[in-house]
Amino acid sequence: MKFEKLLSPGKIGTMELKNRFVVPPMGTNFGNYEGFVTDRMIEYYRARALGGFGLIIIEVTAVDPHGKAVLNEVGIWKDE
Ligand SMILES: Cc1cc2nc3c(=O)[nH]c(=O)nc-3n(C[C@H](O)[C@H](O)[C@H](O)COP(=O)(O)O)c2cc1C
Repeated sequence: MKFEKLLSPGKIGTMELKNRFVVPPMGTNFGNYEGFVTDRMIEYYRARALGGFGLIIIEVTAVDPHGKAVLNEVGIWKDE
């Protein structure tokens, strides 16, 4: 099976992508106990961006505590 278009630019609406490699949303559990972004989470997405993906879809977020899909009770990722 050939994937000739994978490395060619793509477009979603007005958004231009440099290639067609997409990171789908995946629950990392890298948010901290309060639900905020941590340095560990930023590193996770930075590594994938540097890896060259054309599009990264981030994971679930909540604007209100009641909207949390996953309660990070462990809260192992502390802000440095
Ligand atoms: C917020 C969110 C978090 C997700 N987390 C995971 C995950 O941790 N592991 C996983 O396999 N799929 C996860 N998914 C589903 C994947 O993103 C993807 O939709 C699924 O693997 C099906 O991919 P496919 O349509 O290419 O087969 C998540 C989806 C959403 C919307």
